[in-house]
Amino acid sequence: MGRTRFVLVNEGLCPSNSPWYFWSEEDVFMAVSTERFLKDLHFVRRFGAQGTGVVRPAYSGPDLGARDWLASRMAEAGLAVRFDAMGNLFGLAEGQSLLLGSHSDSQPTGGWLDGALGVVAALEVARTSLETGGPAISVVSFQDEEGRFGVTTGSNVWCGGLTQCTADALTDHAGVTLAAARAALGERVGAPVDPSQFTGYVELHIEQGPVLDTAREQIGVVTDIVGIRDRVITLTGAQNHAGTTPMHLRRDAFQGLSAFNAMLNDRLRNVVMPSTVWTIGHVAVAPNASSIVPGQVRFSMQWRDGDIARLDRMQSVIDETLAQVADAHGLDVELGPLLGLDPVTMDAALQARLEAAAEKVAPGKWRLMPSGALHDATNVARCMPVAMLFVPSIGGISHAFEEDTDEVDLVAGLRVLAGAAGVA
Ligand code: GLV
Ligand code: MN
Ligand code: MN
Repeated sequence: MGRTRFVLVNEGLCPSNSPWYFWSEEDVFMAVSTERFLKDLHFVRRFGAQGTGVVRPAYSGPDLGARDWLASRMAEAGLAVRFDAMGNLFGLAEGQSLLLGSHSDSQPTGGWLDGALGVVAALEVARTSLETGGPAISVVSFQDEEGRFGVTTGSNVWCGGLTQCTADALTDHAGVTLAAARAALGERVGAPVDPSQFTGYVELHIEQGPVLDTAREQIGVVTDIVGIRDRVITLTGAQNHAGTTPMHLRRDAFQGLSAFNAMLNDRLRNVVMPSTVWTIGHVAVAPNASSIVPGQVRFSMQWRDGDIARLDRMQSVIDETLAQVADAHGLDVELGPLLGLDPVTMDAALQARLEAAAEKVAPGKWRLMPSGALHDATNVARCMPVAMLFVPSIGGISHAFEEDTDEVDLVAGLRVLAGAAGVA
């Protein structure tokens, strides 16, 4: 739960001298309904709820349940609902419109706001605009932003970075193909959605890092999104008896990975900047038994930076280190497809609209900042102007059940999004 709770004046719940925030009706100058927004946000949290977080990976029952519920809310609002072949869910306004949204799938064990915030806020802004005769606003919840199959797969296919055919061959860590997983969409799938009907895309998201929370600021207006490279690597040695196989005769795949990790950390020091990150986040050791020398290890290797040349240099270091380790430990190396997205810069005009709205909603409590996390906006930038804004993540925690944001900050994000969309 957040550290503070947003209460409307007519709920009469705000004690004086409390740390709670209190806004009078006059302060709520936007037409958006914060109450309806928060209620919807908490409703989406129920799909795949586990503890304080969510387990809602792409195409799972909870993911499709959440999408069906969002689709019903979009229809109630007066938007035309459409699922495309990837399972990206659109709520379409008539004619040319501004597209707002994010994603509603989650990490295997994820937080309740990562993605869902941007979709539900978009829904509230579009609904308010229809109710008040405002500008045409459409809503999207992209599919597989969290990369069960790749890197922001749904928006990547939608904006032409991956063909459907190439995407269909991607597999998750259990070996399930995307083609097999998306068959669960069944009859939901309608006609493709043409990106040219949108004038731009704006995404509200939690920061997922410590910057805003540490500075006690409310809004981050994003300037750039970092680039990423991601691939699965398999090291194969020889499975054997853990009691009888002398150390010098072993071809131990786990020892290979362990040596690779240590050497890589050392060598990358000469290449990286303080903002550069790299992660081995998924490891599958086979056969994963106490008394067997591991014959195979399959692991994810991901690296991120804002500079394409540095991403390339890191790749060379990774490849050279792998070759050296394989040679020293008698291992074979198999490389999965190299997935990735290049860094992108936000559209100046849309960014300026966010800056103006941020100054109105949170004067002196917002900043310009880059995004170290990846977002669908990176892919959408290939098709139209894009911009993004962040609200703080308490303690900088995300991709974890503990992820949370104060309600006052969630509401501030909604109001800035509405202001930038011209729904005020
Ligand atoms: C998106 O969830 C990312 O991994 O940055
Ligand atoms: Mn996200
Ligand atoms: Mn995420």
